[in-house]
Amino acid sequence: MAVNEDKKFGNWFKDNPKPNEEWYESDINIHLKGDARSFWEQYTGLKGDALENHLYPLRDKAFGMGEYPCVGTWDFLQYRIPMVVHDYDALITRLKHNEKVLDIGCCFGQVLRHLLVDSGAPSENMYATDLHPQLWELGFELFCDRERMKAHFIAGDVLSISNPLWKLDVKFGIVLAEQFLHLFSWNQNKSILRQLVTNLTKPGTQVIGFQTANVNAQEYKTQWGHMYFHNVESLEKLWKEVGEETGTSWTVDAKLLSVSDAGYPKKFQDWFGSSGRYIFFVITRNED
Ligand SMILES: C[S@@+](CC[C@H](N)C(=O)[O-])C[C@H]1O[C@@H](n2cnc3c(N)ncnc32)[C@H](O)[C@@H]1O
Repeated sequence: MAVNEDKKFGNWFKDNPKPNEEWYESDINIHLKGDARSFWEQYTGLKGDALENHLYPLRDKAFGMGEYPCVGTWDFLQYRIPMVVHDYDALITRLKHNEKVLDIGCCFGQVLRHLLVDSGAPSENMYATDLHPQLWELGFELFCDRERMKAHFIAGDVLSISNPLWKLDVKFGIVLAEQFLHLFSWNQNKSILRQLVTNLTKPGTQVIGFQTANVNAQEYKTQWGHMYFHNVESLEKLWKEVGEETGTSWTVDAKLLSVSDAGYPKKFQDWFGSSGRYIFFVITRNED
């Protein structure tokens, strides 16, 4: 598969990008406003300057672990799953009925905190996994909830077949994959999804998320490795092949959105170039 090494790809993917201040945003107010501010104030019990003074140093600490734009630009303060899932109430109802949820590449576990508030479901039904357990630990500090958040956390590399995640004896009804699978190549996407599907899903499982995309699906060489940016057709092809290889079948409901429609600042469009998009998806395992 051709790999794009075009140096004109915004300012984003250069060969030696570190340190890159492009995706380190000094002003928290680009995202800490409106509903996001209300959520964080209510959840942490910290208001106004106290909340900001709390968040800044923790974000800086986390940015050192991978330099992810979603951390550096404060994007983790946002909550987009209600925009992604047409029937968000149905998702919440499933959680209330004790459906188990896995957040893959969870970072701080911010999505799980939102679902916790919206559903009131026990956090023991929640599972989270990430390469960096330090990010999950920082989540307790960010949300001030070590006593309250009882989700199971599994540290591990999704590219490793010995990852303890694949040995869990749990079939998840909901898998969250937010800004995650785009970090991997086409072949890596397939090997991660084969493990996920075979070990952790059941008929009715929904894989829900969003990620960076492109009108012209293609692979890019980046500081995080070879990343595959899907369009709707390539995502459908991926899940068709994963289904065939695992003896399952999946319905892909996906759409491409412009960077601004996906709720990102304009400068993300400059990084990604004019064909850059986001893709929102809900992928459902069909009955056997
Ligand atoms: C771009 S961040 C997205 C975080 C979060 N899901 C969100 O939407 O803000 C990607 C996350 O994947 C984790 N990650 C990267 N490579 C991984 C791997 N090979 N196995 C497991 N987690 C990985 C990173 O540590 C990071 O927390």
